[in-house]
Amino acid sequence: MDAMVVTGGRRLKGRVRAGGAKNAALPIMAASILAEGPMRLKDVPDLADIRTMTRLLKTLGVRVEREPDGDMILRSPRRTTRNRAPYKIMRTMRAGICVLGPLVARRGKAEVSLPGGCAIGDRPVDLHLKGLAALGARIRIRHGYIVGGCRRLHGAEMYLGGPFGSSVTGTENILMAAVLAKGTTVIDCAACEPEVRDLARVLVKMGAQIYGVGSPRLVVEGVDHLTGCEHTVIPDRIEAGTLLLAGAATHGDVTVEGARWDDLFALVSVLREIGIEVQHFDDTIRVRASRRPKSVDVTTLPFPGFPTDLQAQMMALLTVADGISVVTEKIFPDRFMHVAELGRMGAEIRKEGNAVVVHGTRTLSGAEVMASDLRASAALVIAGLVAGGKTTISRVYHLDRGYQRLERKLRRLGAAIRRVKQ
Ligand code: EPZ
Repeated sequence: MDAMVVTGGRRLKGRVRAGGAKNAALPIMAASILAEGPMRLKDVPDLADIRTMTRLLKTLGVRVEREPDGDMILRSPRRTTRNRAPYKIMRTMRAGICVLGPLVARRGKAEVSLPGGCAIGDRPVDLHLKGLAALGARIRIRHGYIVGGCRRLHGAEMYLGGPFGSSVTGTENILMAAVLAKGTTVIDCAACEPEVRDLARVLVKMGAQIYGVGSPRLVVEGVDHLTGCEHTVIPDRIEAGTLLLAGAATHGDVTVEGARWDDLFALVSVLREIGIEVQHFDDTIRVRASRRPKSVDVTTLPFPGFPTDLQAQMMALLTVADGISVVTEKIFPDRFMHVAELGRMGAEIRKEGNAVVVHGTRTLSGAEVMASDLRASAALVIAGLVAGGKTTISRVYHLDRGYQRLERKLRRLGAAIRRVKQ
């Protein structure tokens, strides 16, 4: 099991590039089940979650190959009886739920393990099942599996909002089912995340008819067949945001390529509010911080709100801001596994329900800490970059799920960080 060793106190300077977006690539890979021809994807990052989705699709009879230049080619079988997504794969990556809609739509049957919960909280799929049932699928839960079937789905109007607003993979699943349904489907309270938009763009390239892309109201005219296509996955706004926050937290001067202004506007607005200088040109954003950041209140919301996937990393920066900040988590109310670990580094944080009060301190002190989930791991790396002394972060396999060799990118910016075998 690997660990990350970080020696803090260095200001990050230089230029790095964000990789392809994990949370766009995963549903787009699942969409290959719908295609009656090969799908060629560019900029698919080489991450643990991508390898898990690859394993899952191969279990479902899809041929997945990586060419020497990194392109990913996916070929779905004409006919197969391999329609079961096993628990042993699903429990490691809940995004596997994205195969459910395509399986029911294209093959007429699916047996997909319920994903279960994870470190950031309960991960229900009731909205996914509600949407599929609205499209005419017969859905049953049997021995921990979702068993779905339908000869041909039919269009329907549905409201897909839940207690925490829209659902990203819920919208993606229903969208991938509706494109082959007979008739018109209207999805209200659809998620508007850039990754959902990228999936919709791929489906349109494959021949789907989708209107309102990027809005909370999607209208789909079902078609009978979808072809393969070629697509370049959008850059990862969460990786880009993590790198920008690392630059800001270390009072550095960091330029991130592949950082799309419209995708990161909530983050850059908060960075400007706390006194960070932010410039942008094309798909590049530069942050410069010459003095201690000010405190600020941050609330996570569905896109275009402040992303929940940057909450932990933002909190790491606020632990050394000047003043008291309140971070409120409206998407995953329990997404605070990083709080205790930051506390071990000297952060003064008090949890109050789905919010935490952060009393900024002058600095943190390096310590041995443990990663618990993907974004909490990134927060601990940022805290280690800021802290005096050495920080050892164990269980970095969590980090590897969503960041491709993050330590290399940070070293290129001047960080003292290395991966060690534990
Ligand atoms: C996606 O998860 C992302 N994962 C998550 O990123 C991200 O944190 C999340 O969206 C929110 O932006 C992928 O895209 C693969 P949701 P998803 O359905 O789709 C509740 C990362 O770090 N809900 O939008 O699972 C749910 O409990 C990962 O890369 C229901 O109540 O999230 C949550 O409170 C972590 N019923 C809220 O909605 C449902 O049927 C938003 O969840 C579905 C969700």
